[in-house]
Amino acid sequence: MIQAVSKKRLLSGMQPTGTGKLHLGNLEGALRNWVGLQDEFEIYCCVVDWHALTTRIEDTEGIQEASIEVAIDYLAAGLDPAKTAIFLQSQVKEHAELHLLLSMVTPLGWVERVPTFKEKRDNLTGEADASYGLLGYPVLQAADILLYRPFGVPVGKDQVPHLEITREIARRFNFLFGDVFPDIANVLSETPQMMGLDARKMSKSYGNAIYLADSEEETATKIMGAFTDPTKMRKDDPGHPDGCAVCALNRVYNPNWKITWEEDAAGLRGCVQNKREAAEAVNAALLPIRQKRKDLEQDRGEVLRILETGADRAREVASETMSLVRKAMHLP
Ligand code: TRP
Repeated sequence: MIQAVSKKRLLSGMQPTGTGKLHLGNLEGALRNWVGLQDEFEIYCCVVDWHALTTRIEDTEGIQEASIEVAIDYLAAGLDPAKTAIFLQSQVKEHAELHLLLSMVTPLGWVERVPTFKEKRDNLTGEADASYGLLGYPVLQAADILLYRPFGVPVGKDQVPHLEITREIARRFNFLFGDVFPDIANVLSETPQMMGLDARKMSKSYGNAIYLADSEEETATKIMGAFTDPTKMRKDDPGHPDGCAVCALNRVYNPNWKITWEEDAAGLRGCVQNKREAAEAVNAALLPIRQKRKDLEQDRGEVLRILETGADRAREVASETMSLVRKAMHLP
């Protein structure tokens, strides 16, 4: 008899911040990696809407819509719901139960030490005080991950501290209650961090991002206004492509990027030409994604159905894990 060989599982997620629309940094840092892993692995792709509460408690009405936008970008970028489970964290309540139980085995010092806690606390605006929930952010993330007992977690390098604490929590749980959780692997994306239009890291909060949902015109306007090498004043001054935001875009999206870099460094081309070519290259690369995005925007019912089905699939694994956890902890 032929035995079905089950694929190894992966879990990953993104938080719906702001409008939820994803940018090239999200695409190249994580999403494209997930799309490429779909055949080899059974992937659970979560939109972590509860995590968004840690920093936008004064604007909860925007979270639902932003979560759907994230899901639309997942699908537009090529995640295939026939292979991959795409779902909202808040639709699988087991995330909350496991978070509670893991919080009991996590020493306070571990969460206080996570670098993203201090960073997020310092970046809070308005009336907001750092909440108990914000401190627990990495424990909730550990629950997101361990609930699926995955082989690994495909993420960008910025998530490494969160994966480390996840492993520590899993080990401590296993030490106290017996082996329930695997030791998870980092499945890091090859792409280096995407540079934003101002040559800092591309990030929604810096306002330096190009979005999958931007129009071709918006994309071109943003790139024409981007930061270039400040020592290259005239067209024939030699450039330094390494620190130039436009050269970085050419590097990722322009099939002829080597020529553009050589000519730039040799002072054989100006920034305006570089920008035009980068805009064309980015728009060409995003064309199929944007087309798909438009179709999905017209059919939100379909997106909601995909999320329901994804949550059903996620719940199957999640409830199995919770049975193991409760049994190990002698809970009813
Ligand atoms: N912390 C992640 C981020 O900022 C989001 C996240 C929450 C996540 N839970 C996760 C990522 C589980 C991977 C796996 O992007």
